[in-house]
Amino acid sequence: ADINLQEIHDLLVSIAFEAGKMIMAANPSTISTDTKLNSADIVTETDQAVERMVGTKLRAAYPQFAFVGEETYVAGQTKVTDAPTFIVDPIDGTTNFVHGFPAACTSLGFAVGRRAVVGVVYNPFLDVLYTGIEGKGSYMHVRASLAEVTQKFRLPLAGKGEGSRAPPLKGLQSSLLAIEWGSTRDGTNYDVKWQTFRKLAASKESGGSMVHSLRSIGSAALNLCHVAAGEVDLYWEGGCYAWDVCAGWCILSEAGGIMVSGNPGGWETQLDSRVYLAVRGAPSGQKETVEEFWAVVGD
Ligand code: IPD
Repeated sequence: ADINLQEIHDLLVSIAFEAGKMIMAANPSTISTDTKLNSADIVTETDQAVERMVGTKLRAAYPQFAFVGEETYVAGQTKVTDAPTFIVDPIDGTTNFVHGFPAACTSLGFAVGRRAVVGVVYNPFLDVLYTGIEGKGSYMHVRASLAEVTQKFRLPLAGKGEGSRAPPLKGLQSSLLAIEWGSTRDGTNYDVKWQTFRKLAASKESGGSMVHSLRSIGSAALNLCHVAAGEVDLYWEGGCYAWDVCAGWCILSEAGGIMVSGNPGGWETQLDSRVYLAVRGAPSGQKETVEEFWAVVGD
């Protein structure tokens, strides 16, 4: 049977607002904090409580669909399949949440055939909501309530459709790029990361691309929304998971942006590919910018 994506979107929006209330009610200085992989991989009891709430509501409404959540993921066991699946991160930007840096969000995605078809990302600190439905565009809603998430209050994101004023992409040198440190701080993956940052930022004389600058705001989902909004041109990260990117991916594609592999050559990339490059919507220059980026990374 056909899946009603609008209905799923509306439910995800209401759950995201509820998650936002839980996040804002928590006091990060007193909630208990634990670590997973290492001391930079933080989880709080709020992450877990929000995931329980989200999982309970989604399973009650759609018991037939699969559920993948960051805090209940079991390495080697939890898989993203072709089945209709909710893919959620209760708090994306947990480090920001713990420090009170206002860039954390709830990221709720829905994928069918491993394609992100609904995305809802809500930052309760700034009260900004981003939403997307495949084929229906993506929007930013500022200080919205559920009742107000209507055509009247929403701003179409850059790149596609009415209101698009996205300029052409003119290559890496004139771009603002989002990157993330992630929690892996040793080994080859860490070397690839900081070497990539170095090459992107360094002057041409030092063998770099001399981008305008690099930004690291600490949330994969929000980075994708910033790319969707055309506020940064590109976002590269090696090491994230499907729940970090699912919701943002839908919002990005509906805004005319693209996701490709952060490793050279992968035009078609998957939700669980772990290394991604997102490029904003633009009337021209997307392909050239990706190729230039791959040349820097592969160098
Ligand atoms: C993390 C954030 C961070 C990114 C990591 C993610 P979390 O998610 O999105 O920006 O660098 O790769 O794991 O742990 O805060 O949900």
